[in-house]
Amino acid sequence: MLTKTITRLDVPGPKARALLARDRAVVSHAYGRVADFVMDHGRGTEVFDVDGNRYLDFMAGIAVNATGHSHPQVVRAIQEQAEKFIHISSDYYHENWVRLSEKLDEIAPFEEQATVFLANSGTEAVEAAIKLARYHTGRTQFLGFMGGFHGRTLGSLGFTASKAVQRRGFMPIQGVTHVPYPYAYRPLLAMQPSDEDYGETVVNYIEKVVFKSLVAPEDVAGILIEPIQGEGGYVVPPPSFFPLLRELCNRHGILLIVDEVQTGVARTGKWWAIEHWGVEPDIICTAKGIASGVPLGGMIARQSVSTWPTSAHGNTYGGNPLARASLATLDVLENGGSPTPLCKATI
Ligand SMILES: Cc1ncc(COP(=O)(O)O)c(C=O)c1O
Repeated sequence: MLTKTITRLDVPGPKARALLARDRAVVSHAYGRVADFVMDHGRGTEVFDVDGNRYLDFMAGIAVNATGHSHPQVVRAIQEQAEKFIHISSDYYHENWVRLSEKLDEIAPFEEQATVFLANSGTEAVEAAIKLARYHTGRTQFLGFMGGFHGRTLGSLGFTASKAVQRRGFMPIQGVTHVPYPYAYRPLLAMQPSDEDYGETVVNYIEKVVFKSLVAPEDVAGILIEPIQGEGGYVVPPPSFFPLLRELCNRHGILLIVDEVQTGVARTGKWWAIEHWGVEPDIICTAKGIASGVPLGGMIARQSVSTWPTSAHGNTYGGNPLARASLATLDVLENGGSPTPLCKATI
């Protein structure tokens, strides 16, 4: 129970102001900050700045802090692993890498076995999906969605279409045709009289307009989509959309790639948001909440899609031993875990 609350609201306070000045001198201006909050520490849902101001954290690191700040099980997993070893390059093997991949296979919404490629971030998971889709299909083109966010490296940036500033100056980025997201309340397309709902309108538009006049379906390797659009405004597609999109992909041999970097890891009540539509994707991209803040991403692909050969892709930190934080995170989400104790200062 909270009996004492720190109420000083000198924001940014003197220590924060001093750090902001140092930050401005040396940290890249490319970062877009949203507030002059200088973190000191956090616990569960609370964060404290360097001047002792206390906040409730509604940001959760943009969907990263799946277990709150410094959940004891996650901290313990990191500490125990760090004492054993922090790094062994992905040229070798270790147990946590296999255990996490097994766990992701277990929770992947695939009928068949999953294969897992671990990375360091969401954008890297998306890059892996782009490369695998190209390799597997032998095709070069993709469809993306207006309002989508998939990362900022050049492959994923080709799909990101949420803020022009993120693309401006980095063109040309080729190979992605953008279509409207099925946002029924702000439709970019006129509904046809025959369509049941706006989800059907968008799929018909892809089939009848995009595939006829812009890009041939035989050239399309994959359709990359957020099951619920995040940066685009937390948009939930109508019920018909994903089943129809899946059928469209099946008709043309196109891979359905879902970017669950924001929506995954039980954030919508199921491990993966796409499960709400009963649709099986071909590839899932994950990151953010999967390891409670330890940089980790992953591409989970149906085994029959994962046809690339040994050494076709890789990285230095993939399967990072601190991935053990992810096993702890998934355990807390699945089995409840013990709640994070509040900071002493607030009790
Ligand atoms: C849906 C989605 N995909 C990909 C990314 C990129 O992830 P990262 O910032 O870890 O590269 C984000 C990040 O916000 C995201 O929301």
